[in-house]
Amino acid sequence: MSRSSTPKPMKYPPISDKLPVFMHGADYNPDQWLHDPQVLAEDIRLMKLAHCNVMAIGIFSWASLEPEEGVYQFEWLDRVLDTFAENGIYAWLATPSGARPAWMSEKYPEVLRVEKNRVRNLHGMRHNHCFTSPVYREKVTQMNTKLAERYSKHPAVVGWHVSNEYGGECHCDYCQDAFRDWLKRKYGSLDALNRAWWTNFWSHTYTSWSQVESPAPHGEMMVHGQNLDWRRFVSDQTIDFYKHEIEPLKRISPELPCTVNMMDLFYGLDYREFAKVVDVISWDAYPMWHETDSDAGVGSWFAFNHDLFRSLKQKPFMLMESTPSLTNWQPVSKLKRPGMHKLSSLQAVAHGSDTVQYFQWRKSRGSSEKFHGAVIDHVGHEHTRVFEDVASLGQTLAGLTEVLGTTVPAEAAILFDWDNRWAIHDSQGPRNKGIHYEETVMQQYRALWELGVPTDIIGSFDDFSGYKLLVVPMAYLLREETGAKMEQFVKDGGTLFVTYWSGIVDENDLCHLTGFPGPLRKTLGVWAEEIDGLHDHDRNALILEDGNSLGLSGTYEIHELCEHIHAEGSKVLGVYRDDFYAGKPVLTVNELGQGKAYYLAARVSDLAFYEALYGKLVQDAGVHRALDTELPAGVTATPRTDGAHEYVFVQNFSGRAARVELDRQSYTDAETGRAVEGAIELPVNGIVILKREV
Ligand code: GLA
Ligand code: ZN
Repeated sequence: MSRSSTPKPMKYPPISDKLPVFMHGADYNPDQWLHDPQVLAEDIRLMKLAHCNVMAIGIFSWASLEPEEGVYQFEWLDRVLDTFAENGIYAWLATPSGARPAWMSEKYPEVLRVEKNRVRNLHGMRHNHCFTSPVYREKVTQMNTKLAERYSKHPAVVGWHVSNEYGGECHCDYCQDAFRDWLKRKYGSLDALNRAWWTNFWSHTYTSWSQVESPAPHGEMMVHGQNLDWRRFVSDQTIDFYKHEIEPLKRISPELPCTVNMMDLFYGLDYREFAKVVDVISWDAYPMWHETDSDAGVGSWFAFNHDLFRSLKQKPFMLMESTPSLTNWQPVSKLKRPGMHKLSSLQAVAHGSDTVQYFQWRKSRGSSEKFHGAVIDHVGHEHTRVFEDVASLGQTLAGLTEVLGTTVPAEAAILFDWDNRWAIHDSQGPRNKGIHYEETVMQQYRALWELGVPTDIIGSFDDFSGYKLLVVPMAYLLREETGAKMEQFVKDGGTLFVTYWSGIVDENDLCHLTGFPGPLRKTLGVWAEEIDGLHDHDRNALILEDGNSLGLSGTYEIHELCEHIHAEGSKVLGVYRDDFYAGKPVLTVNELGQGKAYYLAARVSDLAFYEALYGKLVQDAGVHRALDTELPAGVTATPRTDGAHEYVFVQNFSGRAARVELDRQSYTDAETGRAVEGAIELPVNGIVILKREV
């Protein structure tokens, strides 16, 4: 293949030189137990027993660190960190900005967030401060400076856990001004802004910057370019606040890595932009296991997220939080069934995590999280099922040090952009009762997951050239440059797969005027003339053409969205069965240069279609699979490699026992060192790590 590819390093250094093994531990809140010094001593004994080597500490400790304005109290934290150091336990030290002390809200109400309705919140909860407030920023600088001065050389500290789960937005006057400044920097003139936002519509033209406001239900919501820019601004302003937080940390302790704990497919922040300024990605995973007989749906969703977080920096990430047993904020707090703790923890490792961490170490005695899963339950000792699961996983991780820093060799990628997501959901039509963008992305991912195809989740500004297969689900917002990059990718020998509702608008949410799919029309050899939104009960079907070049056959159900396309040089592989567009193309392929560009014009509902389709695409494009064997439904395999060895994590999410025939004579079980021959038997929630030479 003539395509150039940028080689990725195969093995990364440990996240901290102080702890060159898998990090295993939890969020730790000793400030809730300062009245009972016995607890700290007991915690240390139990941490060692649980094979825990790291804790995230101080996340919500502002009131204990600065009980009164300007009065600091660090002795308790000194004691905890010193005790850690004496006992071989390390710490991600948090900045406490995720929640403020009451004295601060009382004295400086401007630190409190203003909602869309322009009403300021009362003190309470957490994660609800204004990101722009000069007072809050000043308080954060003072606190973070003190922490960095006091602890950055502490032997127990491995890095900074900056704030907690950034998110949300504020509509206060400071934020409105910051939004206007952001727009001035972006557009330079009101004329340019009015053009980009198409404000002549409904006479929405702005004639002074002061007229521009954040979107509000009782104000402006209909200017899509404005809504999109507000989302971009909120994301940028949050990142700006983070940069402000780390300024003293980086100045005083440039050697310590900074992380922020992210959330699964979080809507409000463009994590790809955020990733540029954090040193190591970490995230918090709370799957709802055991809702159905098979956990394959939930398992693949979390696999997708792990892949996304790994792809953000293309290097190992951290599982910062996960529950050791139940999650108390979910509609139903179901316990992890036997095996699931190991399976779900090692799933993160399989996808590139170099840590397994929990929320939380010890259950709090009161308040809203007292029933959330923890390593140590209210009973206070180690003789619990959950503790045993955790300790046993700690032992497993300790035996897997050779996997640390290895990468996931992905030759397939799925395109997923935040601004596309925001724009797609904001659009009115073609299906306001459910456009199901994320579900569409997941339909593609799930098929690759079932096939055991390691996959990166990338953005429009990433390099496509290292991949053999690029999947582009519903790229509604598609820039001209991205289209050109995709064209080059195909010409150079890549396989491109694009779905309906792609190439509709540009980066300002203005429609492409050259016929949809806009910048991809030539590459795909199709023109999408119209799109039909279907009612929930409407059905159509895709009939695959006899002898089509993919060798697919049969009829598959279609629902929700049907685009009417014309093949302009592309070959038709399948057509509609029903309605006035029966016989018109649904699936096409265009050969361009050395590659192929496929287009799917309608939402096929059946997973079996995607499995058959991706099975062929992967085979044709020569895309690497973890195991070259048929995997039972709900069983997947994910590889990590150091270039010399591959570690294949075979995971059973099917909810029943499964047998996997191996694709070569023998492997080594990476946990036991024993030879594995012919096939493996996986119990319900079973996982095996197979090692082989590359
Ligand atoms: C989030 C937070 C934690 C805790 C957990 C509970 O991820 O970061 O502080 O509230 O949820 O699941
Ligand atoms: Zn604000």
